[in-house]
Amino acid sequence: MLTVFDTHAHYDAEQFDADRDTLLSGMPEQGVELILNPGCDLETSRKAVSYANRYPWMYAAVGYHPENIEGLTDEQLADHLSEIEAMAKDPRVKAIGEIGLDYYWCKEPAARKRQQEVFRMQMRMAKRLGLPVIIHDREAHLDSLTIVEQYPDVKCVFHCYSGSAEFAKQLLELGCMISFTGVITFKNSRKAREAVEVIPMDRLMIETDAPYMAPEPYRGKRNSSLYVYRMAETIAEIKGITPEEAARITMENGKRFFEID
Ligand code: NI
Repeated sequence: MLTVFDTHAHYDAEQFDADRDTLLSGMPEQGVELILNPGCDLETSRKAVSYANRYPWMYAAVGYHPENIEGLTDEQLADHLSEIEAMAKDPRVKAIGEIGLDYYWCKEPAARKRQQEVFRMQMRMAKRLGLPVIIHDREAHLDSLTIVEQYPDVKCVFHCYSGSAEFAKQLLELGCMISFTGVITFKNSRKAREAVEVIPMDRLMIETDAPYMAPEPYRGKRNSSLYVYRMAETIAEIKGITPEEAARITMENGKRFFEID
């Protein structure tokens, strides 16, 4: 059994309503030593903080996901962000996230501009608090890079990495970490595997992004941190190292990035 750190899982999701406590309580005995649960809006950030205070192996991130800012007035957004900033002072909160840009559903230039503004606001928040950030970048690689470059003091991880090997090299130059989900276990994942190949072991993290995107051979099932060992195995196979080494190094990377002892 591998000992692993799932650096990104959403246990606030309703898919866990029936068995959340049983599942989370049993994580350490199944090799999941640490879990980081990010928030995506005010409510899910609150839940992330509550889990992190309940289970010693869980930590939280708080923030506003780009998809969730639609429909908020400027005033509501300002209120929510100041509440998130207050929550971020809890010692169990280790990052601001997940934040970033999602252009997949958002085609309108004004709406994309607003995503960029809110992303910048949260980068400034992270800088004030001295916390790292978890970045969601979907079909917005260049604009994400531009914003990250403007905040050289803020440590970043690109979660659920979907870019090319070339783009990964640019992120590495800026000092970013790169995190992979079950996508690397899929048969048609050539692009993601090529990215893993060029990223040095000390810059890689692994995650489930549960409840979505279960890795092979669990594809289509509800995902949970119990499956993150598959990402360690896949990275080991790509890098030509043992699964134990991949698990250990990604664990160390996650602890260092989130400043967890
Ligand atoms: Ni996520």
